[in-house]
Amino acid sequence: MTDVIDLPLSTKAKGDGHRPRIISVANQKGGVGKTTTTINLATALAAVNQRVLIVDLDPQGNASTGLGLRPSDRQISSYDVLINGKTLEEARIDTPIPRLSIVPAGMDLTGAEIELVDFERRETQLKESLARLPHDVDYVLIDCPPSLGLLTLNALVASDAVLVPLQCEFFALEGISHLVRTIKRVKKAFNPDLEIQGIVLTMYDKRNNLSAQVANDVRDYFGDVVYRTVIPRNVRVSEAPSHGTPVLVYDMKCPGSRAYLNLASEVLKREGVKA
Ligand SMILES: Nc1ncnc2c1ncn2[C@@H]1O[C@H](COP(=O)(O)OP(=O)(O)OP(=O)(O)O)[C@@H](O)[C@H]1O
Ligand SMILES: [Mg+2]
Repeated sequence: MTDVIDLPLSTKAKGDGHRPRIISVANQKGGVGKTTTTINLATALAAVNQRVLIVDLDPQGNASTGLGLRPSDRQISSYDVLINGKTLEEARIDTPIPRLSIVPAGMDLTGAEIELVDFERRETQLKESLARLPHDVDYVLIDCPPSLGLLTLNALVASDAVLVPLQCEFFALEGISHLVRTIKRVKKAFNPDLEIQGIVLTMYDKRNNLSAQVANDVRDYFGDVVYRTVIPRNVRVSEAPSHGTPVLVYDMKCPGSRAYLNLASEVLKREGVKA
């Protein structure tokens, strides 16, 4: 990973010395666009001069692969951070995208769900590691696995906010009440400040009436929590990971890239940052 790719767009970065904002990208439903959103929102934030760290917390390691990391590049992984006392700083790898680094994941992370059970503070391992992260990062985005087990719990306990991708399909709302209940429980038991950054509608197909209907239902139900930006179904978005690169680098002008840039600006607005 040597080529450095620069992206146009830029604004002022925050100065050093502040704690990063930590955002979990979570939904226990599989294949809804968590990893795609993590990679491309992170890239879009980096493009507007934010310093971003992705923590890949999914044993599938899709965020790591999608950023071009081979298994041999993942010497120290999020597993080692959770279980072996390694620091995030030791595990962190720079990507070809300026200002974007990643703590990779590998298959061994599957074991962490079970091994963590024996830990005294099993829910707070990631939170404790993040507290020791040097203050040279503006945003940490955590790519969660499709479950509400101990890995996602570690992410939610460590986070300031949750961003929920919701696929525009018939069963979209099924399961979200479970996720909202889990967030409320985590808030009560471990993390009173946890908030929902927003819900992003993904894989929207404008030729499909069902997409529009689901989007309307979700907006009726959740109101302003839903971002105005909708991520369209776009073949360029699904092609990019096989090239080991974010869609914003693969094809900056495609509808998917434009949508993720808009989402980044909405996220920053909600964070009170001018993009
Ligand atoms: N906007 C989009 N347009 C077209 N394809 C998309 C889009 N977003 C995601 N995909 C594709 O949908 C599939 C699922 O996306 P992704 O891996 O981001 O979901 P996920 O929620 O992280 O899945 P998992 O629950 O397995 O971790 C991938 O093949 C991805 O390339
Ligand atoms: Mg994923």
